[in-house]
Amino acid sequence: MGDLIKRAAQDLIESRYAIALTGAGISTESGIPDFRGPSGVWTKNPQAERKAYQSYQGFLADPKKWWEERLRGVSLLGDLEKAEPNAGHYALVELETMGLLKCVITQNVDALHEKAGSVNVIEYHGSVLKLRCVDCGSRFKREEYTLERLRTEGALPPRCPKCRGVIKTDGVAFGEPIPKDVARRSLEEARKCDLMLICGTSAVVYPFADLPRLARERKDGVLETIIIEINADPTPLTEGKISDYLIRGKTGEILPRLVETIRRIRDR
Ligand code: OAD
Repeated sequence: MGDLIKRAAQDLIESRYAIALTGAGISTESGIPDFRGPSGVWTKNPQAERKAYQSYQGFLADPKKWWEERLRGVSLLGDLEKAEPNAGHYALVELETMGLLKCVITQNVDALHEKAGSVNVIEYHGSVLKLRCVDCGSRFKREEYTLERLRTEGALPPRCPKCRGVIKTDGVAFGEPIPKDVARRSLEEARKCDLMLICGTSAVVYPFADLPRLARERKDGVLETIIIEINADPTPLTEGKISDYLIRGKTGEILPRLVETIRRIRDR
C-alpha cells in the first residue's frame, strides 16, 4: 500500500487540475453508515431502499403528505447535524490548501466537507442543511423555515418566497433529476481535471458514476486523466479499468498518509 500512496502523492504533485469525488465511505469513520458496505443501510434494510425509490414519485403526487411523513419519520442515517468530520475530510482540506486539489464533488448530504473547511465543494446529491425550490432551484437554509409550525398550521408544503414554487429537501431522491447548476458544474470539473481522486464510493449510482467515465475519455493530445480510487473494496471502476489503481483501505487512514507523503516529497 505504501508504494501506491507514494505513486498517488507523485501523481498529485505533477497534476495540473486535480479534483476529488467522494461517497458515503468517507463519512463512515464519522459514525455515519454507508449504503452498500457490510453495515450499510441498504445492505441491512433492503426494504428501506425499495421505499426510497418511491419517495420522489410520492413527493410529486402529494407534496403535503410527503412533508408530513418526512417530519414524522426518523432519518436512516442518524442525526447528521451532530456528526463531525474525520481525518479523511481534513486531509482533503489540506490538499486544497496546498493548492493540489481544486474541487470536491460529493454524493454525501452530511455537509462534512464544508464543516471540515473545504471551500470548493459541489454537493451532487444535495445537503441535509438546505431546502430547495423544485421550480426555480433556489436553495434556503433549513432553519429559515419553521417546518413544525407549517405542519401544525396545515400549511405544508413550504413555498418558495421567490416564485411560490413547492419546496423540497435539497437531498436528491432516487429518480429525481440532479439540479441543473450542480450537474453542469460537475460535468465541467470532470472534463477539466487531469487527476480524479475517488474516495469511499461504490460508484454504482448514476449519473454520478458517469463522471469518472467522462474523465477517462478526456484526452487533450498530451495527457490522459489519472484516476485513483481509495476504497475499502474494489468497485466497478476498478473492475472495468476506469480507474488506474485502487488504494485499498480506509480513507481516514490513507488520505492523511497521502498528505504526509506529499509533504515529505516537497521538503526534499
Ligand atoms: P455506498 O454505500 O454505495 O459505497 C460506499 C463505499 O465506501 C463502499 O464501497 C464501501 O466499501 C466503502 N467504504 C466504507 N467505509 C469506508 C472507509 N472508511 N474508507 C474507504 N472506503 C469505505 O455509498 P455511495 O457510493 O456514496 O444516493 O452511494 C451513492 C448513493 O447511493 C448515495 O449518495 C445515496 C445512495 O443511495 C441517494 O440517496 C440518491
